[in-house]
Amino acid sequence: MDRIRIRGGKPLHGTIPIGGAKNAALPLMAAALLTEQTLQIANVPDLADITTMLDLLQSHGMGVETCEDNGSNGGRTVTLDGSRITRTTADYELVRKMRASVLVMGPLLSRFGEARVSLPGGCAIGTRPVNLHLDGLERLGAKIEIEDGYIHARAPKGLSGALVRFPSVSVGATENLMMAAALADGETVLENAALEPEVIDLARCLVTMGAEINGAGTTCIRIQGRQKLGGGEHSVIPDRIEAATYAMAGAITGGEVRLRGIDGSLMGEVLKAIEVAGAAVVVEPDELIVMRNGPLRAVEVTTAPFPGFPTDAQAQMMALVATADGTSMLTEAIFENRFMHVPELVRMGADISVRGNRATVQGVPVLRGAQVMATDLRASVSLVLAGLIADGETTVNRIYHLDRGYERLVEKLAACGVEIERIYA
Ligand code: EPZ
Repeated sequence: MDRIRIRGGKPLHGTIPIGGAKNAALPLMAAALLTEQTLQIANVPDLADITTMLDLLQSHGMGVETCEDNGSNGGRTVTLDGSRITRTTADYELVRKMRASVLVMGPLLSRFGEARVSLPGGCAIGTRPVNLHLDGLERLGAKIEIEDGYIHARAPKGLSGALVRFPSVSVGATENLMMAAALADGETVLENAALEPEVIDLARCLVTMGAEINGAGTTCIRIQGRQKLGGGEHSVIPDRIEAATYAMAGAITGGEVRLRGIDGSLMGEVLKAIEVAGAAVVVEPDELIVMRNGPLRAVEVTTAPFPGFPTDAQAQMMALVATADGTSMLTEAIFENRFMHVPELVRMGADISVRGNRATVQGVPVLRGAQVMATDLRASVSLVLAGLIADGETTVNRIYHLDRGYERLVEKLAACGVEIERIYA
């Protein structure tokens, strides 16, 4: 398996282009199942999870074409043709690779009256049930059974609009229900909906396709169902988690980094937390500049749905404060098992103790390079951040986790003066 080797100690100096958001591109691509016309999506990042979604859509009969974007942020344009969908089953082999595969359920059920999706198992960061998705679809009139490890959803007469009040905030359930409701009969109201920028991006694309949606970005979304949706063109929003990761890389190494192609308003609480930790952040129309002058300081952070501090930046924040002055408290309030990076950071000399969903990080003067193991997407990038400042050499193993969510990470960091290389198996 490929590995990444880093020699720590070099401050980041340079410009990093921020790509399209993985967590926006995945539901956007699933939305193509809602129409027989062509949906063209630009600024799609080149990631393993995107490839899995393309494989899944093709297994349903979706026509797929991809070509390189000529923008400066890399990315590709994906053209999806949903005129010849022949299958409404999402196989175990694909769903087990990526939980977000469950996002095909709403569109398939709504357009074809049937969807059969392998029940996603747990993952490294938590059990991650899909009950909110299923309860919501049942509210719209679907009959749902679990058979042979598959969710079998049926609505032979189509779905009907209804009130869905989510007991807790779910990004995926909000997206799945928004897509299902777009072709349902009548109005659907989603209450306690997720506010994430990726949800807003999906709503924008659905409106381009002819859907009637109001309130995306608020806790109450109203969707007036349509008989049919058309095609359209859409460009994926920038990846705020990729931007947060590189902002922390700039802060942790004490350099100055420019993040190109990111709008600061997408970042929520992250920028404030990075400033509390001792970095200076300059927000410009299409760019963020992050630099550090002075020692890192301890923080207190609790993860929360947007605009709160994102759980997808918690591991990176832990690496950032591992060498800060003082004691930091990080509370993981979204996923029950998202501290897998702690033992690996401790192997590098960090002083971290975990009790329940709270981690206490006692800042240490230095980290030491070591062989470490990636366990999930964000945990793996926190080990890369730690390797950027560690004394000596760090080798991060199992980096296939990184490939799921970071495009050209080694190239982007090397371009900013870091000694980093990918070791191919
Ligand atoms: C999305 O996952 C993101 N993935 C995750 O990013 C992100 O961590 C998460 O939102 C929270 O921000 C994509 O967008 C593809 P949720 P999702 O439904 O939709 C519980 C990354 O690193 N829940 O908002 O699956 C759930 O277990 C990934 O890029 C239920 O109990 O997250 C969790 O505790 C990791 N029942 C909480 O809600 C349900 O039916 C929030 O999950 C659904 C969710």
